[in-house]
Amino acid sequence: MITKDLSIIREKLKQGELIGLPTETVYGLAANVFNSKAVASIFTTKNRPTTNPLIVHVASINQVRALVKRFPEKASLLAKHFWPGPLTMILPKNQVVSGLVTADNDHVAIRIPNHPTALSLLNQLDFPLVAPSANPFNRISPTTAEHVDAYFPSIYTLDGGPCSSGVESTIVGFEDDEVILLRHGAISMEILESQVGRLLNRTAASEHASLPGQHKKHYSPNCQLIVTYEPLFMLSAIKHKKVGILWYQSVPIESIYVEVNLVLAPSGDLAEAAQNLFSALHTLDKMGLDLIIVERLPAQGLGNTMNDRLDRAATQ
Ligand code: TXA
Ligand code: MG
Repeated sequence: MITKDLSIIREKLKQGELIGLPTETVYGLAANVFNSKAVASIFTTKNRPTTNPLIVHVASINQVRALVKRFPEKASLLAKHFWPGPLTMILPKNQVVSGLVTADNDHVAIRIPNHPTALSLLNQLDFPLVAPSANPFNRISPTTAEHVDAYFPSIYTLDGGPCSSGVESTIVGFEDDEVILLRHGAISMEILESQVGRLLNRTAASEHASLPGQHKKHYSPNCQLIVTYEPLFMLSAIKHKKVGILWYQSVPIESIYVEVNLVLAPSGDLAEAAQNLFSALHTLDKMGLDLIIVERLPAQGLGNTMNDRLDRAATQ
């Protein structure tokens, strides 16, 4: 069920139920962080392993301070520049955050989302919200209320329109004086580095991957997906299949013998491409194709974030 009525959503959350939460990145499946039963039902509803920790969403820095033991100096600097926004920080938790939320880690993931509807909801609640993306485990992340409703029709989803970023938040951690990049996301590595200097890259793609819950297979459509710089070359090797191709900027004239061609960003703007990525995958996923071929994005800025998601979607 989709609603714009904040009072229904508040009531459901107070009763310990889950709701669909709009954010600027993707929609979340949200619950009261202090209600263990509600938190537990996130894992069962998504069919998500409990070893995969959850992000806590708050409305203000004061609420962050109530959940953590320490707030490193570089975290303050990042917060000043990027909160509210699509940046998740891994911080040492205090005892009010249960191990269920953090998969028994002594650190908790926190962010202040930059979405007016999410912020007004969070401001009206006297508890923060835990929210993983609102998709069943391994499936494509939702960027509209309708995507969430198709996955979870029996829960109330708060309609906040299509997500403006379209890919998940960037995740960073802290070690001594270093900032560690743990997941590529809606804020590119380059933009973060312009504010805090060099990051240590420990994303799943790097050789130092150590993040709990960074599963290699993720974001998957129902059919096979291939990501390549040369979609037509791949296509030439495939016969008798219903194929859809997702292009970065434009459709080459040779690409007429496929079921469907979609384009992410005619202007080449990577932010526009990111905004459209999951939505385009949802559209292709619903077409009953045998194969989806996606043109790999340039390996820079948000292109790295999208390639990360696509490589996971392509993992069998
Ligand atoms: O943009 C986003 O981050 C969205 C929206 C809803 O806020 N949420 C999201 O959540 O992407 P999810 O659950 O799909 O991904 C959260 C990831 C986990 O898979 C894990 O890798 C990391 O965040 N994470 C969460 N808590 C952590 C912790 N305590 N330590 C290390 N990594 C953690
Ligand atoms: Mg997710």
